[in-house]
Amino acid sequence: MTSMSLSVEAVETAEFAGKTALVTGAARGIGKETVALLHARGAHVVALDLRPELASLAQEFPGVVTVTGDVTVEETASRAVESAVDAFGGLDILVNNAGRTLNKPVTHTTAEDWDSVMDVNARGAFFFAREAFRALAERGGGAIVSTGSYASAVGLPEGVAYSASKGALAQVTKVLALEGGPLGIRANLVAAGVVETDFLDTFRLDSRAYLASFGNLHPLGRVARPREIAEVLCFLVSPRSSFVTGAVLAADGGFTAA
Ligand SMILES: NC(=O)c1ccc[n+]([C@@H]2O[C@H](COP(=O)([O-])OP(=O)(O)OC[C@H]3O[C@@H](n4cnc5c(N)ncnc54)[C@H](O)[C@@H]3O)[C@@H](O)[C@H]2O)c1
Repeated sequence: MTSMSLSVEAVETAEFAGKTALVTGAARGIGKETVALLHARGAHVVALDLRPELASLAQEFPGVVTVTGDVTVEETASRAVESAVDAFGGLDILVNNAGRTLNKPVTHTTAEDWDSVMDVNARGAFFFAREAFRALAERGGGAIVSTGSYASAVGLPEGVAYSASKGALAQVTKVLALEGGPLGIRANLVAAGVVETDFLDTFRLDSRAYLASFGNLHPLGRVARPREIAEVLCFLVSPRSSFVTGAVLAADGGFTAA
């Protein structure tokens, strides 16, 4: 096969060769799909989550290192980055994806509700960005991408803490881009539309069906498959987006176009 006839798949397979990526919220959903893509395209991957299902990733994707931990604990971020350095010699990519939500009207949202959502989506994501930033700088550059939401840009009714947390993450991203530029570090955020995952299963038994019911709010007439968001996350940490930084990129089927 000549280089001219290389298939897209073959080119993509090599895209992350020699790179090391850390993915949080990796046990399932968008995070697991992102691990699969990065692994298939040649990256060394460290996968972090607090769910026991995480352990199966090491079998499913040979070579993937799993780290069990809670992103709200400050020490987890340094432990995860150290795992990448110990196993693969450094870190080039952070996919800051762990997240949680809570649907409650403003007047029902307690201090505990607020803190629990902000802790994971804003504070925890900040810990990982900060720790990765240091490791990426040591490497002479790299890329950070965070899984935001349409609620990073517009308000989500009955989601005051979630919207605040994802809005905060967009602002963190912009500061990372400003401070990271001179160090060769890019930082971006994917503002995802509704995605068919088990994201709401902690408070809704019918979480998949409920998420799917949001389809008509997207001009494309459906919600996203996890792979469709994972592809955008991967694009933003790949060399194909080498001049993109500080961006809040909508991958929302047109949800926020109106
Ligand atoms: N599903 C959607 O409709 C949707 C829409 C927009 C954005 N998002 C964002 O996408 C990201 C991934 O969500 P998903 O849809 O794949 O849901 P998911 O629930 O399947 O995956 C989230 C993962 O994050 C992990 N996690 C949560 N809290 C954690 C903590 N404290 N420490 C470590 N890991 C933790 C969970 O265990 C889970 O594996 C989240 O940041 C979410 O806010 C989801």
